Amino acid sequence: MSEARWDLDGFAYLDGHLFAEDVTLERLANAVGTPTYVYSAGAIRSAYERMHAAFAPLGARLHYAVKACPNLHILGLLHELGAGMDVVSGGELERAWLAGVPMDAICFAGVGKTDAEIRAALDGTFSPLAMPERGLGRGGERHLPPGLAQRGPVGLFNVESASELARIAALADTLGTRARIAVRINPDVDAHTHTYTTTGKRENKFGVTVDHVLPLFERYADHPAVDLVGLHVHIGSPVRAIEPFEAAVDVVLGLVDRLAAHGHRVSLLDLGGGWAVDYESGEAPVPSAYAERLVPRLAERVAGQGMGILIEPGRSLVANAGVLMTRVQHTKEGQATRFVVCDAGVHTLIRPALYQAFHFIWPVAVRAEHVPLQRVAAPEMPDLATSEVVGPICESSDFLAQARPLPRVARGDLLAVFSAGAYGMAMASNINDHMRPAEVLVDGGQATVIAARQRLVDHLAPERQKRALTPAELEPCNRQDG
Ligand code: LLP
Repeated sequence: MSEARWDLDGFAYLDGHLFAEDVTLERLANAVGTPTYVYSAGAIRSAYERMHAAFAPLGARLHYAVKACPNLHILGLLHELGAGMDVVSGGELERAWLAGVPMDAICFAGVGKTDAEIRAALDGTFSPLAMPERGLGRGGERHLPPGLAQRGPVGLFNVESASELARIAALADTLGTRARIAVRINPDVDAHTHTYTTTGKRENKFGVTVDHVLPLFERYADHPAVDLVGLHVHIGSPVRAIEPFEAAVDVVLGLVDRLAAHGHRVSLLDLGGGWAVDYESGEAPVPSAYAERLVPRLAERVAGQGMGILIEPGRSLVANAGVLMTRVQHTKEGQATRFVVCDAGVHTLIRPALYQAFHFIWPVAVRAEHVPLQRVAAPEMPDLATSEVVGPICESSDFLAQARPLPRVARGDLLAVFSAGAYGMAMASNINDHMRPAEVLVDGGQATVIAARQRLVDHLAPERQKRALTPAELEPCNRQDG
């Protein structure tokens, strides 16, 4: 890119026009319509390399948290770079598999795994892809797509409770396989982030109380179907301070020592995700800053005790590599403020409504005096109008920004909602029967539609499959998983 551009995370203004790498967003909008998520492949690559380099002294393996942006082609891109995958549902598991990720590079986390999901993670025979017509979890199939037969168990289960561990052990036993397992602990550490994304405090549903971990290692030490190898911790997201990570690591290492004293070796630590990013420029530590403080705590364990380290970054790999492109449909002056009504809203990006999250929003085409140099809530520029950026949904929570100074925009103008690559499309919904946006991946001058805009006909299809249940189907003792 030329020096004249504001170049941040793959997006840049050149002569007042916003580019994704070498493609203008205006041309993309004309070609694909709005609202559309646009990702920069280059930005994803460099975010991956930064994270990988930061934790290289520990030989850490990166498992991308699929939930952040689960598009198959984003998974494929990260897999090519060397990432494993962290999945939290049967759906994500099959996505990772379809993206070409081998099962042993997948770790299966999540607090509510069903029997059907556990079976699919233990044995490809039970993949929903093997028998789409029969749904999850029923055996008896004959013709498996290539690769699914004997695809083997996932590389790691992160278990969240004694109950779940018992189910995995029983199902692995029945299937004649062995599950490699890390126990997620609840370290009771405050990540100082939004309550809804805080996961490591004692009142949160996640993980096993530290005192309950030793009995699990005792109980499963010699189990034929279970290989209890590790501990896992994830305290929240995004975690902007480094101290909570340090505190969590200290709790885990204390537990490693306690287990060792009872003869149980922990050979794998999964440190989870939660690494913050710059929604506003300069607000978050860079990956190397986290690593500088964490590597010394762990280096001796890695070198001396041969411990493997795994991390599960999601947001930090994709958040700033994506923008949500939206077109202004109407503007109006309210009594106290100006409303900018867009075709994106809470249905396309729920983060502002759900977490009061900040996303920098700016017009895609601006005059020279309005070219932004960084992502800030209140840029110091002339002629800005305080605006409410809202969507079409019939709820007052349907906003993308409140009281935000913006250049004056008019009907038909395009806006870019920045830092939307993580938990944007992933949390989009069909509220008020709006279709889910399209997704485009830009790599240099090449733009590729990696998800078509949802079609109404597909959205309505399940409702057009109305059928009465037969008496046989309503027999007593129908079990959830059959
Ligand atoms: N590992 C585990 C066990 C997790 O629960 C999560 C995120 C991650 C890794 C990845 O965390 P990351 O590196 O992306 O921070 N919807 C919220 C974020 C929810 C995060 C859920 N867990 C948001 O939009 O901010």
